[in-house]
Amino acid sequence: MADPDPATNVRIPSEHEAFHFRSLAEVQAQLDKLALSLPFTDDISPLLAPAEIGGRHFPNRLCIQPMEGCDGTSNGAPAELAMRRYQRFAAGGSGLLWMEATAVVPEARANPRQLWLHEETVSEFARMREMLMAAAAESLGEDHQPVTILQLTHSGRYSKPRGIPEPIIAHHSAPLDPRHDLGSEYLLISDEELDRLQDRFVETAHLARRAGYDGIDIKATHRYLINELLASYTREDSKYGGSFENRIRFLLEVIGRIKTEVPGLLIGSRLNVYDALPYPHGFGMARDGSMEPDLGEPIELIRRLHEAGLDIINLGYGNPYYNPHVERPFDTLASGGYIPHEHPLASIATMVEIAREIHEAVPEMPLVATGLSWLRQFFPAVAAAMLEQGWCQFAGVGRLGLACPDFARDLIECGKLVPTKLCITCSSCTQIMRDGGRTGCVVRDREIYAPIYQRCRFRDPD
Ligand SMILES: Cc1cc2nc3c(=O)[nH]c(=O)nc-3n(C[C@H](O)[C@H](O)[C@H](O)COP(=O)(O)O)c2cc1C
Repeated sequence: MADPDPATNVRIPSEHEAFHFRSLAEVQAQLDKLALSLPFTDDISPLLAPAEIGGRHFPNRLCIQPMEGCDGTSNGAPAELAMRRYQRFAAGGSGLLWMEATAVVPEARANPRQLWLHEETVSEFARMREMLMAAAAESLGEDHQPVTILQLTHSGRYSKPRGIPEPIIAHHSAPLDPRHDLGSEYLLISDEELDRLQDRFVETAHLARRAGYDGIDIKATHRYLINELLASYTREDSKYGGSFENRIRFLLEVIGRIKTEVPGLLIGSRLNVYDALPYPHGFGMARDGSMEPDLGEPIELIRRLHEAGLDIINLGYGNPYYNPHVERPFDTLASGGYIPHEHPLASIATMVEIAREIHEAVPEMPLVATGLSWLRQFFPAVAAAMLEQGWCQFAGVGRLGLACPDFARDLIECGKLVPTKLCITCSSCTQIMRDGGRTGCVVRDREIYAPIYQRCRFRDPD
């Protein structure tokens, strides 16, 4: 039996199961049983083909997804483990390194060690980029130059700059407010504060360019502040709430300003296209209050973002604090988690289908696909098929990259992934984050992260 669905509180029989497939034929049989479909191909060459987007050359279509390590210094500079992580990712051969959530103001940090880019840390961000480019060249030769995009964020509802929640919310949310015990009197971020926040995003984009990054990402996903604005249907008397025009205003204006005020930067957005929270609480949702996606607004937004100069979208889904199975299908729950009602293959099929529909509606916008780590050694077969069909231009990996930072090299050199090096979707990386530690793969990078996991589980976060 599944745990009650967090959105509907309904308990239904669960189709959830752990990964147990030894061949693509077994995966296909399970898909047939569930009346689902995923594309597959044996030809992984689309993953290794170069790309040109926004005046940048990408050596291949493999992308490391943004993943917070919670390992910055107290003033937001990347510290030793962050440097190590990006050196490993860069040496691992992915053509696109989409780097983790980096706060634009201190009150926006999701934890006291979240990266924060400002005048005093810009030189360390520059050093990190130089180190990772050197690691890439040393591993794959001078011609292999991955593109680097730095994700700029405001954690909004999930801000925790001093280690305890200090939510900054754009609207009151019936499903989410109780999680932080927020009553109706809790103040919303004002329009004036949002206007000033736009300036901070633009200033931080300047700093990212100065530090040498190819691009920035305005993070509008996972129910952080800008994603919350997209779903601010009930925000009243505000130029940032209510109508579609108002809800997309912040994102559209920031992108437009960066395009003109910080020329030369590649501009991306990690964009939630399906919040999996019923209307009027979620973006990309059917208006009948069901959990069905309605991509009308996300598609129109992507068209407008393209006109405003956005170069690339990294697709995002759901909310990792509320319904993590939507984008991070797992075998093992993080503590306090729930058994989802749907099979992990169903979550993946939903993400793949949404990518397909978005690509077909806005083919001019390059997309990064995500949420495929649960597939383990079968990830390349699905990702390559999506690329072959044109449904995405890059295949992103999150947890699989933490477990196996050199997965791209394995594909380049051996044409396949090694199952014993891959992510087992045990949720330990997420667990460390929740417990307040520095995060990474407890299973495949255990010398560093198993002791951290143990310490944090026994309530002694470092
Ligand atoms: C430890 C951890 C940290 C993450 N941090 C971020 C982040 O900073 N920004 C972001 O957009 N997504 C973040 N994500 C989500 C991943 O980018 C990715 O979308 C997700 O893990 C699903 O992909 P996967 O199945 O390949 O893991 C994080 C995920 C994990 C596991």
